[in-house]
Amino acid sequence: MTYPPFTPRVFSGIQPSGGLTLGNYLGAIKRFVNMQNADFETIYCIVDLHAITVWQNPKELTHNTRELCAGFIASGLDPKKSILINQSHVPEHTQLAWVFNCIARVGWMQRMTQFKDKAGKNAQKASLGLFCYPALMAADILIYHATHVPVGEDQKQHLELTRDIAIKFNHDYKIDFFPITEPVIEGTATKVMSLRDGTKKMSKSDPSDLSRINLTDDAETIAKKIRKAKTDSDALPSEPAGMKDRPEAQNLVNIYSALSDQPVETVLRDFGGRQFSDFKPALSELAVSVISPISKEMTNLMSDSAEIDRILTYGAEQAREITEPIMKKTYEITGMIARAR
Ligand code: AMP
Ligand code: TRP
Repeated sequence: MTYPPFTPRVFSGIQPSGGLTLGNYLGAIKRFVNMQNADFETIYCIVDLHAITVWQNPKELTHNTRELCAGFIASGLDPKKSILINQSHVPEHTQLAWVFNCIARVGWMQRMTQFKDKAGKNAQKASLGLFCYPALMAADILIYHATHVPVGEDQKQHLELTRDIAIKFNHDYKIDFFPITEPVIEGTATKVMSLRDGTKKMSKSDPSDLSRINLTDDAETIAKKIRKAKTDSDALPSEPAGMKDRPEAQNLVNIYSALSDQPVETVLRDFGGRQFSDFKPALSELAVSVISPISKEMTNLMSDSAEIDRILTYGAEQAREITEPIMKKTYEITGMIARAR
């Protein structure tokens, strides 16, 4: 078990609540892959228990869970280098979440913007799970004593809450047991925006399919969506400052930058002064060259669901070597008696 000083350990999660978007890929998965090749232990989780905070058709949830696992692997996550898990396979996540429900305060949860957005005007009818979801997210991370969490910008507030929970637990029980996790929100794609509205996040739940690129879209669909993407009528500037107040231009350039692993400055040096009618075909070609191999490999992997289930089972076994002792120690700290042998 790791005690302070905590060894670097990366954890992140994605909900299997529908297809993967380019936002998920650039904001999360691509960065998971990069971190896997550094000197960290990396754990990546399909958070099926988070998904059911809003209604999920059971058959679709099963399919989406496997498809997300296929997406992880097709994007370059390697079950030999990273621990790949499905949340409900590792019961310590929910055990620790209960303890954290008793640490976190109702007022903290009421401030969460994701809850307000998802619950909408009908908050009284939202599930209790949706309300206390950030305590489960904190448990996902802290049951591994994870120190670094790569996510997109929309998760920043949840990670601050995770830090607050760790601080309060350590303070209440007078023990330096949980690490104060660092969010890792970096790169040009921490918030990929909708292709129809540069002020709105690209999301799998947007009613318009034209607003997003899905990892399962074919080349023609990707090209069509980029061709139809909203833009203004000016040429691209040669410097980043020239994109101020041009959210759609900024978004497409950011996407190009993240897909090609080049700084925005370099992209604008190449495309500055050119029209979107020149830039969009180049962006389509780049997007197709990155996404097509991933979607082909996903289809391949999905043809053998038993193998996906084996990979996740193997991941859960490795995960529990970390989570069981941390959970046992947490119960001990809180005064729960251990079962007699
Ligand atoms: P979700 O699909 O909401 O479970 O999100 C999974 C991960 O993808 C989280 O780290 C999010 O922050 C990230 N993510 C989702 N949508 C976007 C987006 N439009 N831009 C950047 N990152 C995103
Ligand atoms: N809340 C995240 C989202 O909606 C998903 C998530 C659940 C997560 N547990 C996590 C992300 C732990 C990072 C770490 O996208």
